Amino acid sequence: MEARRWLKSQYEGVGLEASIDGVGNVLGRSKNPGKALLVGSHSDTQPTGGWLDGALGVIYALEVARALASDKATAGLPVDVVSFQDEESRFVGCLGSRSLTGALTPDMEEGAMDKDGISMADAIKQAGLAGAARVKLSRDRYAGFVEAHIEQGPTLEDTGNRIGVVTGIVGLRGIRFVFKGQQNHAGTTMMKTRRDASTALYELAHRINTEFPTAAAERTVWTMGRLKVEPNATSIVPGYADLDLQFRDASDAPLDALEKIAGRIVTEMNARGGVKIEATPARAPIPPTLMDEGLRKHLEAAAEKHVPGKWMRLPSGAFHDAGIISSTLPSAMLFIPSIGGISHDFAENSRDDDIVLGCQVLADAVASALTEGVRA
Ligand code: GLV
Ligand code: MN
Ligand code: MN
Repeated sequence: MEARRWLKSQYEGVGLEASIDGVGNVLGRSKNPGKALLVGSHSDTQPTGGWLDGALGVIYALEVARALASDKATAGLPVDVVSFQDEESRFVGCLGSRSLTGALTPDMEEGAMDKDGISMADAIKQAGLAGAARVKLSRDRYAGFVEAHIEQGPTLEDTGNRIGVVTGIVGLRGIRFVFKGQQNHAGTTMMKTRRDASTALYELAHRINTEFPTAAAERTVWTMGRLKVEPNATSIVPGYADLDLQFRDASDAPLDALEKIAGRIVTEMNARGGVKIEATPARAPIPPTLMDEGLRKHLEAAAEKHVPGKWMRLPSGAFHDAGIISSTLPSAMLFIPSIGGISHDFAENSRDDDIVLGCQVLADAVASALTEGVRA
């Protein structure tokens, strides 16, 4: 919250009307007339995540607002800025952008809890935001949304490109598997009779890794990055385990197919008796989305002006608030290269000259979209 208050004061410092809304989004509204462009990203991060994922686009937006306001030619352009809350799923992935578009349902909020057992409702209260209004974006105010971000993958670096213009953003689904067996003594419980929750977890995970490739498309990915085995002790047959599966693709068909495979594996394993497996779909899936072509053209033209021939169009395998906002406003994204393609790790970094270039390209694209109209 201290960082959010700091950001709010920075927004005010460049002449914007700033507020923190009821879920923690920080918004800065331009006082200039006309349909505004919203620019920004998120400022939360992953546990042990890097310094640029999200924050880069937040600070770019502030700098774009500042730069355009300080140049007579662009000072009258209406640029609003935003720092979204909780893109990374402490409670609900893309919480802030979902709230701004009206896509945050009571179902998603109810029972939303972080990994330490703190509920979202309590966190909002503790942050002093329980009474704050939940802002909604309106198409009457906005011409569109632009988000800048690090690529978080190796494509730009591998191809020697300096700027990426995003064509579309992956969709994401998740399933939580809960395994209920019988906790028991690891020495006296025979292999035939034990109901070992962890063995069932390992079997299911292995079957997912061997059966998913049969239905995966070229860029389909899946991850089992969080699991729990209880009581997690060497001499105890675990009676309980749970596992999160996440899978992503740019279209729905492979995701539907993978969901079916996971369901069949659970049915087959449950039919054997022993450990009981429950599968619950993640409460906040993200649909695959395409970025707006009219807005993209302004990013492409600005990239071509700054680094002719050294930019490319590419899809995003990471999800972003722009995917959520695109349901309400024409949306586009710009990427800068990530060194070694590393992200969601402390080692995440980008070259200083790429960081500077990305902001210049963004500022030019925002100015041209507002001057010439978003629909090129
Ligand atoms: C967003 O941070 C993602 O996991 O793609
Ligand atoms: Mn991230
Ligand atoms: Mn991000």
